[in-house]
Amino acid sequence: MERCRCCGGVLEKVLDFGRMPLADRFVTPDEVADEYFFDLTVGMCTGCAMVQLINVPEPELIFRSDYPYRSSGSIRMAEHFAATARTLAARELTGQDPFVVELGSNDGVMLRVLAEEGIRHLGVEPSAGLVELSARRGVRSVAAFFDHDLALRIRADHGRANLIYAANTMCHIADIGSVLSGIDALLTDDGALVFEDPYLGDILRGTAFDQIYDEHVFYFTLRSAQRMLAPHGLEVSHVEPLDVHGGELRYTVTRRGRRPVDTTVTSLLAAEDDAELTDPAALASFRRRVEETRERLPTLLRELRSAGRRVVGYGATAKSATVTNYCGITPELIEFVCDSTPAKQGRLTPGAHLPVVAPETFSAHYPDHAVLFAWNHATEIIGNESAFAAGGGQWIVYVPEVRMIAG
Ligand code: SAH
Ligand code: TYD
Ligand code: ZN
Repeated sequence: MERCRCCGGVLEKVLDFGRMPLADRFVTPDEVADEYFFDLTVGMCTGCAMVQLINVPEPELIFRSDYPYRSSGSIRMAEHFAATARTLAARELTGQDPFVVELGSNDGVMLRVLAEEGIRHLGVEPSAGLVELSARRGVRSVAAFFDHDLALRIRADHGRANLIYAANTMCHIADIGSVLSGIDALLTDDGALVFEDPYLGDILRGTAFDQIYDEHVFYFTLRSAQRMLAPHGLEVSHVEPLDVHGGELRYTVTRRGRRPVDTTVTSLLAAEDDAELTDPAALASFRRRVEETRERLPTLLRELRSAGRRVVGYGATAKSATVTNYCGITPELIEFVCDSTPAKQGRLTPGAHLPVVAPETFSAHYPDHAVLFAWNHATEIIGNESAFAAGGGQWIVYVPEVRMIAG
């Protein structure tokens, strides 16, 4: 029997995607023979309703020094994190000599703004390559996985943190108990943990099944997050929706009783109860819609190919690993995927083995159709590539359902 990582309750299996590769492991032809696969299945806890992966590959396999994801790869996201840095500085870092710790600081996209203000900071980022890149931007970070032991070391070296921030990282860490007890040890009495992650409500509403892959261990709701935090003496005192990565929630978490729990929390809890987000039935209807997409997307691509059309992919996202592998999309259906990340170019996408090329290959000779795998960056990409649609090209999206859109 599988157990919940938050409360130890029993996990009920709600989704099964079959064998999947690691979504950010772009392979060379030599590496194809021993590519790593695991069973991508999702469970809901019968105790705390946390939706989570049942099997999680070892984090050391995923977050290596060559982990290719770059937070600064989207201008919109770089702006989002710069704005976040300014908001957090004004809200949480107003005392004397404040100290901020960021978990999953990646290429330093957020901390560089605070570093420029002279604010004491430390990023925690397991990928050594990213730690080096951040250092070149004036961001100090440590190449390590955050857990309780590391929290104690940081506290001994730097003192307690007024703010701990984590974007798209809390949901990545299976050993969440150690992370939360570490946060409890590291945070000042009046400090805040601010974290933001994809919201289960948006994933279900948008049929965004491609948010489900090896790195996304948890699919939070406010209710399940609250239950996860409570045993550590922490509570959500404020919550706000974010219009990035397909819909996220930003949680401001403080020690129990230290700040008033405001109406953003009480009203979202009521909305979640109305939407029955803690009911396995919500996942069952999601599963039916996902199965429809699994039929429709490859059917559309096969029709286009047999009509002699050229079809490519845009954005070699981690999310696309679930789409291509679950929907059986092969290089016969999609000629290549273009992506601006140099570390992905010249390699093959995980599992499906679609060649990854630079965006210049796309614009040099526009195809007839492009599947927008980076649909969460639609405005930025469709805007930058406006000549594609102007010349008659069509974008294909599959979230919330399979359709062609005008540019
Ligand atoms: N915060 C960035 C990066 C998100 S990707 C953004 O929102 O764009 C998730 C990051 O978390 C990766 O850079 C990964 O290396 C890092 N990570 C994974 N496990 C971690 C852990 N235990 N502690 C700190 N960072 C971790
Ligand atoms: P993203 O959707 O942010 O995340 P994930 O990999 O977790 O699903 O990834 C966006 C990818 O799209 C990234 O590899 C960079 C690429 N990209 C482009 O190639 N061009 C662009 O204009 C943008 C915004 C992103
Ligand atoms: Zn649970």
